[in-house]
Amino acid sequence: MKNTVVVGAQWGDEGKAKITDLLAEKADFIIRYQGGCNAGHTVVANGQTYKFHLIPSGTLYENKICFIGAGTVVLPEYFEQETRELISQGVNLSGLRVSPLATITMPYHTEVDGYSEDNAQKGKIGTTKKGIGPTYTDKYARIALKIQDLYNLETLNEKLDIILPLKNKQLTEVYGMEQYSREKVLALCEKYAEIFRPYVWFDWQKGLEDAKNEGKTVLFEGAQGVMLDVDYGTYPFVTSSNPIGGGAAVGSGYGPKMIDEVIGVAKAYVTRVGEGPFVSELANETGHKIQTIGHEFGVTTGRPRRCGWFDAVTMRYAVLVGGLTSVALTKIDVFDTFEEINVCIAYRDTRDGKVYETYPTDVFMHKYLEPVYETHKGWCQDLTGIRDYDALPENAKKYIERLEELLGVGISIVSVGPDREQTIFR
Ligand code: GDP
Ligand code: IMO
Ligand code: MG
Repeated sequence: MKNTVVVGAQWGDEGKAKITDLLAEKADFIIRYQGGCNAGHTVVANGQTYKFHLIPSGTLYENKICFIGAGTVVLPEYFEQETRELISQGVNLSGLRVSPLATITMPYHTEVDGYSEDNAQKGKIGTTKKGIGPTYTDKYARIALKIQDLYNLETLNEKLDIILPLKNKQLTEVYGMEQYSREKVLALCEKYAEIFRPYVWFDWQKGLEDAKNEGKTVLFEGAQGVMLDVDYGTYPFVTSSNPIGGGAAVGSGYGPKMIDEVIGVAKAYVTRVGEGPFVSELANETGHKIQTIGHEFGVTTGRPRRCGWFDAVTMRYAVLVGGLTSVALTKIDVFDTFEEINVCIAYRDTRDGKVYETYPTDVFMHKYLEPVYETHKGWCQDLTGIRDYDALPENAKKYIERLEELLGVGISIVSVGPDREQTIFR
């Protein structure tokens, strides 16, 4: 297998974890490169369902290194809970490693995230309230704590000299919250040091170098999706990191030359959780049908996911900015009982009739756009037992091949159910 990045090609929850788990079998090294426990990743294998948030979805195989890279943000209590749950399911975490450079989400980050969401009059984003935005804000403001700081009291105190006065001024004056005393933060850090101790990989440079020299296969696991990317997504209705393929070169510790291919994972339709524009959204019975059959409820927050038809306009954009070299199409089985299936091939401006085939990046104007659809005949057949592309009904193949034509890249994997086995490789 080539060194591969798995990227969400829509607004997250595309089935990345299923694809990562599948590809992980042939990889030696799996690296999560951005995001935090805002992610909710599901793998169904061996008759069990496993839920991951921070820990790479390749963890189910033995003898792999699963690395949480420097580009991630980690919420210690959540990390601890996740490791506990996976161990109780019989998962062996001896290959799990955490970068000393990963950024720590402190309780004040989650508090600020919750406060901002609950008090937003306008511009509510609908975040997961896991402190993602405030943690990345502090990281880029250069006032965040890294995991390595937990093991050096002198560094920690020196950093707190800078962080605490700024943070406390902000917490009290902007948010009307309680201050954090040095004693309180040091006590938290002591606890966090113990949580991460079995997993911190101080020797990561040698580990990555050895893997490179020995020609080990690396799988880079993205969280969220291209349309939630902080630079290229539907800003400001996005997350605060870079899920795009290029993000792997930043957040993993390996440069771009290490990447051979980028697989974009996309559902046969589109879902979105939280606020923000969604031109092909179906706020009707059909949307509800997709939501019900597809079990479209968030893994992390339990919120219902908004559903709509496949949007080839955003997806073509995702192919470009996400650096996708091929696509894994998931959840096509959700359409098994649909007599007709629409694909959004362009947007039309309701004000002047102007048609957009290229994604318009000013998302505040999307309220004026309506989808232009192309209608496909359904296959009205159960696809969940099919394992061979040629055995798919003609209408399913036509749908897949039309999407390839619209996107300009091949669909290399078709997923027909949540289980690891329910997959067609082409
Ligand atoms: P991720 O965040 O991209 O890893 O995706 P999630 O785990 O949040 O959501 C995807 C959901 O769809 C999970 O419940 C998966 O078990 C399920 N799933 C993945 N692929 C398929 C598929 O091909 N068909 C069906 N019916 N479900 C799938
Ligand atoms: P996975 O990896 C779907 C969405 C939130 C919100 C926006 C910002 O499972 O695909 P944040 O908490 O990141 O500041 O929220 O991004 N969001 C996701 N939506 N799947 C995810 O992850 C998401 N992670 C964040 O709903 O709209
Ligand atoms: Mg998810």
